[in-house]
This record gives sequence, structure tokens and C-alpha cells, in this order.
Amino acid sequence: MTALDAWLASLPASEGYSCISAARRYAFDEAGYDAQYASDPANLTPGRGVVALLKDTSADFSAPAIEIGCGTGLASLGVVESAAYPLVLLTDPSTAFLGITRSKVRGHGFDESRVRYAVLMAEEIDRLPPDTFSLVLLRSTLHHVLDVAAFISAAGRALKPGGALVFQEPCQEGYILMGALTQFLPALARAAGRPLGPEQVKRVEGFANAMKYYSRRDIDKTKAEDKWLFRVDELAARAAAAGLSMDFRPNMAFEYYAPYPPGQPRPGPDTFTPFFRNYAKYCMSWGEGLMRAFDDHMPAYCAYIDGITGPGAQPYLHGVFICRKPAH
Ligand SMILES: C[S@@+](CC[C@H](N)C(=O)[O-])C[C@H]1O[C@@H](n2cnc3c(N)ncnc32)[C@H](O)[C@@H]1O
Repeated sequence: MTALDAWLASLPASEGYSCISAARRYAFDEAGYDAQYASDPANLTPGRGVVALLKDTSADFSAPAIEIGCGTGLASLGVVESAAYPLVLLTDPSTAFLGITRSKVRGHGFDESRVRYAVLMAEEIDRLPPDTFSLVLLRSTLHHVLDVAAFISAAGRALKPGGALVFQEPCQEGYILMGALTQFLPALARAAGRPLGPEQVKRVEGFANAMKYYSRRDIDKTKAEDKWLFRVDELAARAAAAGLSMDFRPNMAFEYYAPYPPGQPRPGPDTFTPFFRNYAKYCMSWGEGLMRAFDDHMPAYCAYIDGITGPGAQPYLHGVFICRKPAH
């Protein structure tokens, strides 16, 4: 039995999961979340991308990996499939999410002897044994964590020397641009003689207000599910304070690093207009009518942002952050 296994076995268990923290349901229905992001039902590409990216940067694979906020396993499954780590500890505060991910691991027929599941709130990552993990992984989870600085510092402690804290998260500047442009949609539709309905106007306002809420640093977000948009300079400062060096890959997603068949172009980095459109459609659940209004009015204004920067220097929309703990 490994030291990590012995530690997990010493914890209380609930529904078959080791409880590092008390369990907490997600703010939205977990099965519904799985259905919403089911465009790639196999869920293998993001995790394959994580492993490929880390192999490409000579990362350490000698110790276990832990994923915080694994959700429905979008990043987990490719990491488990790779068998690159001696053990993968998949965690989430929600046992419903852990159940979904576990059934996908089983559905793929992966070697479960190398996989553990645990209930963990990121805020309690300081409970993990120190110097233990080669990888602390998060995909779209850090923006749910209340005290990001404390989390990064504690993640650094949980990493073994040479290990990496890796996360993919939204960036404030791109989201501010989306919010700023969105607020003009009702006026543009009105001016074109096709005004939005009251429900549509509410949705547009909801989008703009969400960007404002996530950007604010001066309000209590304890009870909010989604909390933050990130500034790269702030995260670099937090990483440095935790003794980690940070490498940022702007507008890249984990899946863009996965191996692609010869001849198939590798996607990414993302550019403003399609990212904005997808965000409205899939993350803000805009319906057909509102998306038609988006397509009628927004591209002309978005083109300014795409055009002034060219493909190489787009505003930061999101990105992959790799924070390394020095080997010694
Ligand atoms: C947006 S989902 C992302 C899920 C998955 N990583 C993915 O990429 O699809 C956010 C996840 O973070 C988890 N979460 C929310 N608050 C958390 C916290 N304070 N600590 C750890 N995980 C949290 C949720 O239960 C959920 O699984």
C-alpha cells in the first residue's frame, strides 16, 4: 500500500469515497451539466492534451497526480487512460460528479487499480500530505475557489519538488470585451428595426452583469458558484509568492495539445469572434433568436478586435497555466 493510499484509508468514507472534505452538491444539476458539455462524449482529448503538454515540457511523472474539481471527467479520462502517473486521485466536492466520472472510467475499461476518488474542497487542499504529487490539475475549477492565493500556496506545498500545478481558466480582459460589446446588442437590434423581446434583453443584461460580477474583487463571493475571471499578472504574482514559476499559454485549451492524426490541423489558439459566439451559445445558453441577433450585429464590431491584433496577439480569453515547483 502506498503512503497516499494509507492516508486515504485513514479518512472517513461516504458513498465509497474517501472524504478529505465534507461533500457539497454543485449549484447546478450534475447530470444536466454532463449533457450540456457532451459534444465529445468520450472526453479523452483534454486529458490527452495535458499529458502531451507535460511530456513536451519534460515534466515529472514519478509521483501521483491529483485533479481538483474533476466534474464529469472532461480532463480526467485522458490522464487516466495515459497511465502516465503511478496513481491518479480524482476529487470533487460533489459525490454526484465523482459517480459520473467513475462510471466513465469504468465504461472506457481503464485500469482502475491506478485510480482513487475522494471528496475534496479546493479550500482544504492544505490537508493533503506535503511533497506528494507530480501534478495538481484543474480544468475550469480555480474560478470557483474563494481564496485563490491560499489555494496556489497550498497546492505548491502538496507538489513534490519538480511537480506542476496546471490549470485552464478564463481571463478577465477577453471577458470584459465580451461584456462591453454585448451590452450594445439591444440598441443595435432596435436600430435595425428588429428589436429584441423583453426576455432576450434580460439575457443580454445577464451576460453583461455576469462579466461584471466575475471581474469584481470587492464583493463577498462566498455563496457564489462561479466567482472569478483572472488576470495573468495576478496569477503570476500568486505563483511567485508560492515559490512556483509560471508559464502561460494564452488562448490555448488542454485539448489543443493532444496528438492529432497526420493531416488534421491542430486547433487553437482561440480568437475573439468565434470564442465570443460559442460562449454566448453554450455557456450563456442563448437561444436561436438571440444567436440570430448576435450574427446580424456583433461580427462587424468584433472584427475590430480580431483585426487590430491579428492572430498572434489576441486579447487573453482564457489559457493554460503551468506553475512549476523547483526540482530542488
Ligand atoms: C465548471 S465545473 C468543471 C468541471 C470539470 N473540471 C470540467 O472541466 O468539465 C467546476 C467543477 O469544480 C467543482 N468545484 C466547485 N467549487 C469547488 C471548490 N471550492 N473546490 C473544488 N472543486 C470545486 C464543481 O463541483 C465542478 O465539478
